[in-house]
Amino acid sequence: MVGSKIIFKNTNLCYIFNEKHMLQKVINFKDKLAKFSEHWSPRVIAEMNDYQFKLAKFKDKFVWHDHQDTDEVFLVLKGSMSIELSDHTVKLNEGEMFVVPKGTKHRPYAKEECHVLLVEPRGVVNTGDSGGELTAQNDVWV
Ligand code: NI
Repeated sequence: MVGSKIIFKNTNLCYIFNEKHMLQKVINFKDKLAKFSEHWSPRVIAEMNDYQFKLAKFKDKFVWHDHQDTDEVFLVLKGSMSIELSDHTVKLNEGEMFVVPKGTKHRPYAKEECHVLLVEPRGVVNTGDSGGELTAQNDVWV
């Protein structure tokens, strides 16, 4: 494992930690959110197996898109947002979450700035196959 090292070893256990996880064991959403202000620009804060936890700030309308290979979790930390789907709109308030099923067209929208935790596999592009100017660089950590 590149960039990792063994920090503790005994007869039964061998813990291997990636260096960035050693530096940041407790992850505080508020602290992380204070470190960026761009809208529609998710920042990775942690990984679990092949999945990433990303913080994002939403405001105004995103683009219609889908993710052909994965579901996508939206968990609202602050504010409220909507997710337009082809036949209805889901409204999410603080403390609520929604799983957009794989391959489902969706368009997030937030009238006022909304802070969201996204959970999805590593490598998922925010605009799916739709592209455009709101496509964010992937795998940017904060
Ligand atoms: Ni999406």
